[in-house]
Amino acid sequence: MTRILITGGAGVLGSEIAARAKLAGHTVRVMSRKPRPANADTEWAQADMGTGEGVEEALRGVDVIVNAASNPFNTKKVDIEGTKHLAELGRKAGVEHLFHISIVGIDRIPYSYYQVKLAAEQVVKQSGLPYSILRATQFHTLPGLFFDFLKRFYWSPALFLTPDAQFQLIDPGEVAEYAMPLITAQPAGLLPDVGGPEILRMDEIAKSLMVAEGVRRPLIYLPMSRAIAEGFRKGYNTCPNNRYGKITWADWLARRYGTAKAARQPSIA
Ligand SMILES: NC(=O)c1ccc[n+]([C@@H]2O[C@H](COP(=O)([O-])OP(=O)(O)OC[C@H]3O[C@@H](n4cnc5c(N)ncnc54)[C@H](OP(=O)(O)O)[C@@H]3O)[C@@H](O)[C@H]2O)c1
Repeated sequence: MTRILITGGAGVLGSEIAARAKLAGHTVRVMSRKPRPANADTEWAQADMGTGEGVEEALRGVDVIVNAASNPFNTKKVDIEGTKHLAELGRKAGVEHLFHISIVGIDRIPYSYYQVKLAAEQVVKQSGLPYSILRATQFHTLPGLFFDFLKRFYWSPALFLTPDAQFQLIDPGEVAEYAMPLITAQPAGLLPDVGGPEILRMDEIAKSLMVAEGVRRPLIYLPMSRAIAEGFRKGYNTCPNNRYGKITWADWLARRYGTAKAARQPSIA
C-alpha cells in the first residue's frame, strides 16, 4: 500500500486528489496549516511549508509526495524555499516520488507568479528525488476569485484580466482524475500538459460569470504589461492538443449556479 502525502491537500486540487487516492485504496495524508477537522477521513499532518514547522513529521513513512501547495502571497517562502525543504526532507525520509503540480505556459508568460512556479519546478528537478511535474491549465474555480472584491465591497467593479486573453479552463476534479494513475506510476519528469475541453476569451468568461452570479457591475480589465498580456492573448497558457477535460465552462456554471442562470458561451476553438 502506498502512503501519499498531499501538500495543499485541503485546497481546491489537493482535496480532489486526496478523495481519488483514498478511493483507489492508498493511505492518504493531507498536509495543511490548519488543525485536523473533526470530519477528516484521512491521515492529517498540520505543517507549514513557509516556516518548515511540522514538515519532517508529515513525511514519516511517506512513499509519494504530491506537492499541490502554493501561496501566491508568500511565494518565496512557500513555493520555492518550502518546496526545497520538503524535497530535502523527503529525500532523507526515503520518498520514492515527488509529484509536483505546475501551470501550463509558465516558461512563456513573464508573470511574476509564473516565474515563481518555474523556479519551483527547477527546485524539484534539482532535488535529487525522482520526480514528475504535471502542468495544468487554469481551473474553473479561478475566474471566481476575481469576485472576491465584489463580495467584499459593494461598490467595486468586476476586475478581470485582458479581455482577449485565452483560457482553457479545466475542472480540478478532472485534473485529479488525470493525475491519479501518474502519481503512483514511475516518476516520469516533465509530463505532457493537461487542459480543459475548450478555449474561451476572458471577456466571455467574465460576462457569463457575472450573469451566473446575478450581479451587474462595470467590468474593468486590469492593466498588465504588454509581454504578459501578449502571452495570454496568444494562449501560451493553453494546450489545445491536450484537451483531457470533458466538463465545459457552461457545464461548470450550470452545476455551480443552476442551469437557469448559466449562459452558454461559444468557444474560440
Ligand atoms: N488554480 C488554478 O487555476 C491552477 C491551475 C493550474 C495549476 N495550479 C496549481 O495547482 C496547485 C493547487 O492550486 P489550487 O488552486 O488547488 O490552490 P489552493 O486551493 O489555494 O490550495 C493551495 C493550498 O496550499 C496550501 N498552503 C498555502 N500556504 C501554505 C503553507 N505555508 N504551508 C503549507 N501549505 C500551504 C494551502 O493549505 P492550507 O490553507 O490548508 O494550509 C492551500 O490549501 C498549485 O500549485 C497551483 O499553482 C492551479
